[in-house]
Amino acid sequence: MAEINRVALVTGAARGIGRSCVVALAQPQTLIYVNDVANLPLAEETCELARVKGAQAQVLPFNVADSHEVAAAVDTIVKTSGRLDVLVNNAGIAKDNLIARMKEEDWDRVVDINLKGAFNCIKAATRPMMKQRYGRIISISSVVAYMGNPGQANYAASKAGLVGLTKAVARELASRQVTVNAVAPGFIATDMTADLPEKIQAEMLAQIPLNRFGAPEEVAAVVAFLASEAAGYITGEVIHINGGLIMA
Ligand code: NAI
Repeated sequence: MAEINRVALVTGAARGIGRSCVVALAQPQTLIYVNDVANLPLAEETCELARVKGAQAQVLPFNVADSHEVAAAVDTIVKTSGRLDVLVNNAGIAKDNLIARMKEEDWDRVVDINLKGAFNCIKAATRPMMKQRYGRIISISSVVAYMGNPGQANYAASKAGLVGLTKAVARELASRQVTVNAVAPGFIATDMTADLPEKIQAEMLAQIPLNRFGAPEEVAAVVAFLASEAAGYITGEVIHINGGLIMA
């Protein structure tokens, strides 16, 4: 079996953008840990897609919101593979409601998975990355962190939180050659967005200059770039992928 020289972990990678990130990162001599908390047969399918591109891939189930599970999983990666080069914080959920009707538990759940989940994974990945004096951390924020969206106070706050988290950690880890960035996708056609009412989808489309929704592969291509050697001088940055919906 080919020697592994690059180890990656992508959270929430059973489907959607996470799956596309795994495929975009997949190449020979790369080992990718495909995390999810549910949809594990789909996570196995994601692994197959990576293997087709010559990578090694393995499902690693855990809940990003549980710091103990995250620490144990990253420990397993480092013990088994000797390193962790790339972390993609992709796992995320939405539980939408207008602020007056938003339940506290829906606020907590979204913030726990989207924001604290990234904190848990970054914290666990920091030690091996600092030790090896190399790392690439990429988190999936959202355009709504910048423009807001009615009914998404919890989601928008969690995604805006990721931006601050990214910038703070980028400053902390820069001296060890660990880069920390985020991408902020706009409306991307995945299972998550398919759940939105048609009326909302049509309203969103009307605001997008490129006049179409994005594809998960278009987000994954930017993530793969940020994970590459070519992006070594980019840190603390957020790259917008939104068809012109906002021009920051
Ligand atoms: P998706 O719902 O298709 O996939 C998310 C995956 O994360 C699922 O497989 C789910 O099981 C997993 N997940 C959920 N909670 C988890 C947990 N606690 N631990 C581990 N895995 C967990 O969503 P999609 O559309 O692929 O989104 C991926 C990321 O991109 C999310 O963070 C989302 O907020 C973000 N995003 C999506 C946009 C879109 O238009 N689809 C736009 C901007 C950001």
